[in-house]
Amino acid sequence: MKRYHVTTFGCQMNEHDSERMKGMLESLGYAEADSQEQADLILFNTCSIREKADDRFTAHLGHAKRIKSQHPERIVGVGGCWAQSVKEEVFARFPFVDVAFGPGQVHKLAEFLTADSLSAQGYFEFEGFTGHLPAKRARDYQAWMQISVGCNCVCSYCIVPSTRGREVSRPSHELVAEARRLASEGVREITLLGQNVNSYGRDLPRDARSSFAELLGQLDAISGIDRIRYTSPHPKDMREDVIRAHAQLPSLCEHIHLPLQSGSSSVLKRMRRTYTRERYLDRVAMIREHVPDCALTTDIIVGFPGETEADFEQTLELADAVGYDGAFTFIYSPRRATEAATLPDQVPHEVKVERLERLVEVVQRRAFDRAQRFVGRALEVLVEGPSRTDPSRLRGRSRHNKVVNFAGLGEPGEFVEVEISSATSQTLSGQESIFARAAR
Ligand code: 5AD
Ligand code: SF4
Repeated sequence: MKRYHVTTFGCQMNEHDSERMKGMLESLGYAEADSQEQADLILFNTCSIREKADDRFTAHLGHAKRIKSQHPERIVGVGGCWAQSVKEEVFARFPFVDVAFGPGQVHKLAEFLTADSLSAQGYFEFEGFTGHLPAKRARDYQAWMQISVGCNCVCSYCIVPSTRGREVSRPSHELVAEARRLASEGVREITLLGQNVNSYGRDLPRDARSSFAELLGQLDAISGIDRIRYTSPHPKDMREDVIRAHAQLPSLCEHIHLPLQSGSSSVLKRMRRTYTRERYLDRVAMIREHVPDCALTTDIIVGFPGETEADFEQTLELADAVGYDGAFTFIYSPRRATEAATLPDQVPHEVKVERLERLVEVVQRRAFDRAQRFVGRALEVLVEGPSRTDPSRLRGRSRHNKVVNFAGLGEPGEFVEVEISSATSQTLSGQESIFARAAR
């Protein structure tokens, strides 16, 4: 039996594409290998969001090259956003690569592997949906569902619109059927994926169109799915119906990841985010009004071209005022063929690093404060397995998407009640409520 190995970089969308690669390969009769050395087919699913992602991947590729030089019959494949962004250049720069394909082009990989001749091939069209391909899930009780591919935004720093193409939504009846099937297989939590989930449906024909809020309602009605999450929404498309859904739909979790990027309206304008600081704060106020306990997380970029100290202070001030439950913070990284890479006044690296440090300090201080509201409360936790730091304890996630480490008896995939006794900026700690267990 032939064996494959997949190394994944980047976002949850890529993780999910890799699950589908694995599912597809297993349906072709391949089995998963524990390491690249043992694999007949060595695959990389790549990311290109920041320069660091590119660098990490090219270092890994060197390892595959060494394996291939000893075993020329092995196949090396490179898929995902980095491959798409450099296209045929992959073969010129890395002649030992046999097949290269853009994000989601998993079916093309199958075509390549089942073809009679295995001469080097690249597949970079944006076409077709691979969302329906079988996925090999990492966990039985959690699943990703891709509700749309591509992105119609033109954020000036971002490479994704060029690597994943225009936005295409999957019809809601297909998604409902998929969620029902997942529920029947024992999945309790689904995470809806899209580059801009809340613009979902706008490209569908009028008679088959559901809005994102309607889709959430349809999925919530499926019995067996106890938790629904989604990532990422765009603040410009965050409408009241979606926020109300968080208050009304029992399975929709109390967590919204709302990427800010910058707290300065003039930077936001040059980023082409199409909202201002005020409008963003308005959305936050609406969330807090309808779902007071909602966890809010975000993405922030520091050092965008032309960002002044005063612009940056507006970001700091906004992060302090909102009080995020967590944030991913990034140093701006110029990307090929993006508008921002050509803008004047690129910020010196030392300034970017210094701003990042100051931002992280505010984010962590506020996340710590926010987390204290959980101390003394009993939270529903979906058990994931042993704690990473202390295997005698368990680890799981609350509906707020907080990692909870706790003493208890729960099995992976089980919901338990945990009494929270302490909280840091990142994790909560506590013990399983024995009374709740006895009552079940
Ligand atoms: N440089 C730095 N961060 C970026 N992101 C996207 N493009 C860039 C870039 N060129 C960040 C944004 C986005 C997250 C996924 O990555 O914050 O929300
Ligand atoms: Fe995901 Fe963006 Fe990286 Fe592509 S470039 S894998 S969409 S994070």
